[in-house]
Amino acid sequence: MGIYEKRPLSSKVSVIGAGNVGSTFAFSLMLSGLAREIVIIDRNEQKANGECMDISHGMSLTHPVQIRSGDYESCAGSDIVVITAGANQKPGQSRIALVEANAAIFKEIIPNIVKYAKDAILVVVTNPVDILTYVTLKISGLPKSRVIGSGTVLDTSRFKYLISRHCNVDPRNVHAYIIGEHGDSELPVWSNANIGGISLDRYCIACKNFSNCGGKMEWENIFNEVKNAAYKIIEAKGASYYAVGLAIVRIVEAILRDENSILPVSSLISDYYGVDDICLSIPSIVNINGIEQLLRLDLSQEEQSGFQQSAASLRQVVNAIKF
Ligand code: 2OP
Repeated sequence: MGIYEKRPLSSKVSVIGAGNVGSTFAFSLMLSGLAREIVIIDRNEQKANGECMDISHGMSLTHPVQIRSGDYESCAGSDIVVITAGANQKPGQSRIALVEANAAIFKEIIPNIVKYAKDAILVVVTNPVDILTYVTLKISGLPKSRVIGSGTVLDTSRFKYLISRHCNVDPRNVHAYIIGEHGDSELPVWSNANIGGISLDRYCIACKNFSNCGGKMEWENIFNEVKNAAYKIIEAKGASYYAVGLAIVRIVEAILRDENSILPVSSLISDYYGVDDICLSIPSIVNINGIEQLLRLDLSQEEQSGFQQSAASLRQVVNAIKF
């Protein structure tokens, strides 16, 4: 079914949080031309207003969009509400360490969002994103298809970039996923990674620099660089926001344009290699309805246990949260 047979969209996107990630996302969304209306909401109204002013002053040089700051009531009629509000990691701090503070913030903001935008699709970005996607699902009472976490879309983009740089190919022609937690227990799916449809191990043999490639060691290094990227960026510049801003735009694009795109977003997992009732990232079909379908990957034994370990580590954290 096409986009307009399902429901007319206003292409209105609200973003909660005018920090680095929220404002970079709003700016990137304007550049994309996807939205007709952008609302930035932050308890620091002056900051939200300043971001709107700064972004809108570039409008004549890109795509026209109505952009304004507001309160939760301004969320009304949003197709999508993106949630970036909350504390972010300090240098060396894990994402999980933010759970108590940010779960408390979510207990306040989610009911406000649902009060004014109960038909919206919620895209959770605040860390720890998988835990807070689960918290949002429980607090909002919305269907699981309409509560999406940005998950490992960012990690998968890092993974594709690093593989592409090593193999000297366009990152858009690298097909490889990071799944599980957007965090320390995430895992690479090497078993189905490919470049231009050629499996990685077969591609290596044909690769020009095969003779001086480190092979398995190289791949391990690449995955570790992905897993630790945030720590390095935060150490260097205090926060990460450009790539995650683009990752959120990609998810919003798949929804607004009803694309049926396959993206490793975080959502409620049920009966997936023995994993149940937790939010983790698995490649999923994303369209105007939100999450249409989770894809059942053929995981190796090692990948299955990595996924189960990722779930177990998050389960402990969720069990400790009082809803
Ligand atoms: C990142 O991975 C901090 O979750 C953020 O860059």
